[in-house]
Amino acid sequence: MPTDLLDLTEEQREIKNLAREFALQEIAPYIADWDERAHFEPSLVKKMGDLGFLGMLLPEEYDGLGVDTSTYLVALEEIAVVDASAAVMMSVHNSLPTQMILRFGSDEQKKRFLPPMARGEILGAFALSEPESGSDAASLTTQAVRDGDDWILTGTKSWVTSGSHAGAILAMARTDSSSERKGARGIGTFIITPDMPGFHVGKKEDKLGLRSSPTVQLTFDSMRVSAANLLGEPQMGFIYAMQSLENGRLGIAAQSIGIARAALEAATAYAGERIQFGNHIKEFQAIQFKLADMATRIAASRCLMHAAAKAKDRGEDVKQATSMAKLFASETAMFVTNQAVQIFGGYGYVKDYPVERLFRDAKVTEIYEGTSEIQRIVIAREQYAKD
Ligand code: CAA
Repeated sequence: MPTDLLDLTEEQREIKNLAREFALQEIAPYIADWDERAHFEPSLVKKMGDLGFLGMLLPEEYDGLGVDTSTYLVALEEIAVVDASAAVMMSVHNSLPTQMILRFGSDEQKKRFLPPMARGEILGAFALSEPESGSDAASLTTQAVRDGDDWILTGTKSWVTSGSHAGAILAMARTDSSSERKGARGIGTFIITPDMPGFHVGKKEDKLGLRSSPTVQLTFDSMRVSAANLLGEPQMGFIYAMQSLENGRLGIAAQSIGIARAALEAATAYAGERIQFGNHIKEFQAIQFKLADMATRIAASRCLMHAAAKAKDRGEDVKQATSMAKLFASETAMFVTNQAVQIFGGYGYVKDYPVERLFRDAKVTEIYEGTSEIQRIVIAREQYAKD
């Protein structure tokens, strides 16, 4: 067995096994069908909530498991090995909305939202991007205008993971459009619930991969939001989003590692069975070198990810470390799934084997929660910030 370079605690081993068994029983038999139909299975949310997977980083007082970041990532990787779509739902929920409310929310907001979110009764989503604002996130144009005790939100949010099934959406909107406060400091974060008049779920994207995770547009049409749903300070929402994306990027690293591991496991097994030129193809160095590079990059990704997670839990500045982990792991997922398809040859290009789906699922990890180019920008900027 190749080493995973991790010395797991007893608790981590238990959570890893629980995640693996859950994913194999409740998700694996249906993946091909859900992928084909782009079907999101809502019952997964409650099932994952019941097992604690949707409140992993929340304290017990909010019905969470209160584990450390590494333990959460161990569980997330196991879910992702079986299904990257369920993994992104779990990652976004644990890393972004729940963490944002825990970190920046009022006591009332924490009591109202966190326990049902931890139990899987309310699914969380994160709405930062817009049709014209992706990598340049601070250029968002959704407006929030104060009206007495309320805010009126108008605008469109794009690429919202789980947005059609979420009960709490953390959305960023411009609270101050005066010229001197433009940019990152004039943005607030609001907790949106789908019962708000003016809330509309728009186009569901027809995606290359992660097809059983719904990605939708959301429109806020003069949507009235109580000031009680504003998170923290009205000018600080972009900063909250950036800080939270550090968690998010670790979640995507775990998802990427899970996808890559599934591809490596499938390719290793296939190379041990497939006979060409009178030998199992694992006997050929052309195949051995691929498997060696795949395994090495996965192990290196895992080391980067857990090093960043541990630094985060020690309270260190992890902007650079989380971007490095996300960048390396997502490019590893693409590299490994590409090599796996190559090892399978023609059989890798059809839906009879899992590597075709893994290859499609891997691509988005280089795009969402900050493209690889954005991660490189963050890493390089931090390099200068340290000098
Ligand atoms: N922590 C705290 N503060 C941060 C921060 C962080 N990690 N990153 C930036 N900031 C602060 C900066 O210090 C700065 O504050 P001041 O105004 O006090 O100086 C402010 O935020 C603006 O930062 P920048 O000057 O660096 O802003 P920028 O516009 O030059 O670039 C960026 C920022 C890094 C490129 C950012 O826009 C970014 O990360 N873009 C990618 C967007 C992204 O990741 N989107 C993900 C969508 S969500 C998603 O995909 C979820 C899903 O559903 C799967």
